[in-house]
Parts: sequence; C-alpha cells; structure tokens
Amino acid sequence: MSKLSIELLIQKKLNSIPITMLTAYSYPLASIIDSAGVDIVLVGDSLANVVLGLKSTTSITMDQMLYHTKAVRRAIENSLLIADMPFKGYQINVNDSLNNAKRFIDEAGCDGVKVEWFNKCPDVVKKIASKGINVMAHIGLTPQTADQIGGFKVQGRDANSAKHLIEQALLLEDLGAFSIVLECVPDKLAKIITEKLKIPTIGIGAGANCDGQVLVTHDLLGLVKGFRPKFVKEYVNLHDQIKTAIDHFKEDVEKKQFPTKDFSYTMDEDEIKKIELG
Ligand code: KIV
Repeated sequence: MSKLSIELLIQKKLNSIPITMLTAYSYPLASIIDSAGVDIVLVGDSLANVVLGLKSTTSITMDQMLYHTKAVRRAIENSLLIADMPFKGYQINVNDSLNNAKRFIDEAGCDGVKVEWFNKCPDVVKKIASKGINVMAHIGLTPQTADQIGGFKVQGRDANSAKHLIEQALLLEDLGAFSIVLECVPDKLAKIITEKLKIPTIGIGAGANCDGQVLVTHDLLGLVKGFRPKFVKEYVNLHDQIKTAIDHFKEDVEKKQFPTKDFSYTMDEDEIKKIELG
C-alpha cells in the first residue's frame, strides 16, 4: 500500500498546498515519479495512445490496464496509486463496474480508481464508493466519450454548459468521489468548482486555480511527437535526445567503432591456445 493517503490530499486542499499527479505505465518511470515525491501516480488509459499506439482510449481492455498497473505498483512506495477504469470496464455495462474496480484494488494493489463522466457515471460512482473503494471522477473533456461532447475541445465555455459541469462536480462529491479531475475547462470555471467542493480538484488544461495539477508524463518529457495541446508544458525533449543517442549507436556500429575493448570481456591467452590446439 502507498504511504500517502486520501486524508493528506484533503489536508493539502485545506492548507492550499498544491497536489501533484502524473501518469505512469511502466516500472522505471513510476519509480522516478515516486522517488520525486509526486502525490498521485495515475495509470491513465492514455496508455492506449502514448504507449500502445492506439487511436482511441476506448479500445483499451481491463487486462491491458491491469498488466501495466501491476508493473507500476511494484515501483511505488509512497505515492497514491490510482488506475483509470477503461471504457470497456464500466461504460458498456455498468454492472461490470464494481467487479472491475475491485480487480484494480485486489489484483493490482491500487489505492483507488478513476472514472470519466458519462450519462451513468453517478450510478457507477455510487456503486463503487459505497463499497469503500476510493473513486476519483473526471469531468470536462472526457476522452472516452469525446464523440458525444463535440470532440477534443474546451468544455463549459458558456453559462449553460458551465452550470452542468458545476452540477456534475457537486453530485459526484455527494456520491462519494474523493477527488475530481477537471480537463480542459476555462480557469475561472475551474476556480468556481474548486471553491464549491470540499474534495480536491486536479486540473489538466484547467488553469492555476485547481487544488492540484496533472499531466501525461510522456507529454511533459517530450517523448511523443505530434500534436501537443496548449496546456502541455514540455519540460524536456526526450524524443530528440533518444533519437540522437540511437543515431550515434547506429553510426558507431556501422563504422566499427562500437564495441571497443572497453566494452568487451577478456580471456587468458593460454585458454585460447588450448582451444586452438583442440
Ligand atoms: O488517461 C489519462 O492520462 C488521464 C489524465 C489526462 C488525467 O485521464
């Protein structure tokens, strides 16, 4: 189990101490994130896009999510470990949601699960939270149902849709969610929601007034080339650094400059002679 707790997150909100959350899908990155003292490690279903090369998060399965979550669990000592419920694990049949949430806790050692808003989200959150499983909710731009909300665009820009998001947030808190991710909403709306809730909000593309911030780690590391949303701050360009290292390896091998003696093992000349003598 993680050393951090949900209570600590609430304390952070009460004391205006920003909460940090990052995604991880593998042992090495999870280990670095945990050792950096990040509060929450999320095994996001963004795994589908940034690791598995799938177009949509909706195609990822429970088995794929569990496989990666178990690897991340092995790396984590302190951070809270939350896993995304995959679309197929709760949105196709809400009756599957509780069993699948339990699998993340029992089989993968998670501290909680995250679910995205959809029309039956309140039922799912109630069902899972009432069994004592920590549930983080996710509203605003919800990639699993992007086709129903006008695509990958900012949500809640007009008063009506903003009011809907406020209602969703309050309902989810009432039903037992311990935290809510706000994705791609105007910063002033995120501020209103954050101030109305007792539970912490974690923003991604939701401005500076949330209780915490999350990014997809592969984005902040600059690992994936292609479209980068406005809200992503790329702290390093690992794609180009890795490419340069691989170019150097290829060139060294092709020019017979690698491996040199420094990277090779030796053997006694006498032993070589014995081989040659048969
Ligand atoms: O899947 C994911 O990585 C997420 C974060 C963007 C919050 O849901």
